[in-house]
Amino acid sequence: MSDTTAYPNLLTRLWRYVVLFVRCPDDIASLAPSSAFLTRKLAGLPCVQNAKHIVELGPGDGGVTRDLLEAMSPQARLLAIELLPDLVEVLQSINDDRLIVEHADACELASLVETHHLKPVDVVVSGIPFSILDREPATQIIEAIYDSLTPGGTFVAYQVRDEINGLALKRFGEPEITWVPWNLPPVRLFQWTKPG
Ligand SMILES: C[S@@+](CC[C@H](N)C(=O)[O-])C[C@H]1O[C@@H](n2cnc3c(N)ncnc32)[C@H](O)[C@@H]1O
Repeated sequence: MSDTTAYPNLLTRLWRYVVLFVRCPDDIASLAPSSAFLTRKLAGLPCVQNAKHIVELGPGDGGVTRDLLEAMSPQARLLAIELLPDLVEVLQSINDDRLIVEHADACELASLVETHHLKPVDVVVSGIPFSILDREPATQIIEAIYDSLTPGGTFVAYQVRDEINGLALKRFGEPEITWVPWNLPPVRLFQWTKPG
């Protein structure tokens, strides 16, 4: 089911991020992929292990994606939505039939979830840089996440800055926030549960 043999080494991964950061800093928004500490923390969340349908926004080169796949049940499915074609190519090399990779903008979340019959979604994991996005698309993405989630479903976002808090407050209320220092740069993990 899952084949992790093709995992690129850390230097290759770092180099790819640096090149992409030079080319499109506002999209990649990071000089390094998420640390194993962060990816394991995300994958270790009980909501991930119990989920049937997971959506990942901004999967990058798939560090979080691979750990989510390791943690997910064999029947679960994961839709990964990535904007940059170079990274989509890397994601497509992950050999796991539970994974659907879409080269798209996270703004297309609602229609992609419908297309792949993943509604209602149990968990949305997001690495996209909400602090850099314009307000209109950022709000549109938050609305689509809220609408896609099942009541009791979880929205998890790892972010350097806290703009997302203001964006999500109206829909989701106050998040649970955990500090993750062992990442470059350190991030905060914001977690919301859809009421209901
Ligand atoms: C901070 S990187 C995180 C990458 C990866 N998840 C990790 O943990 O290493 C942000 C990722 O979000 C992607 N991204 C940024 N804006 C996006 C958008 N509007 N829709 C989809 N992906 C987006 C970037 O291309 C990049 O892969």
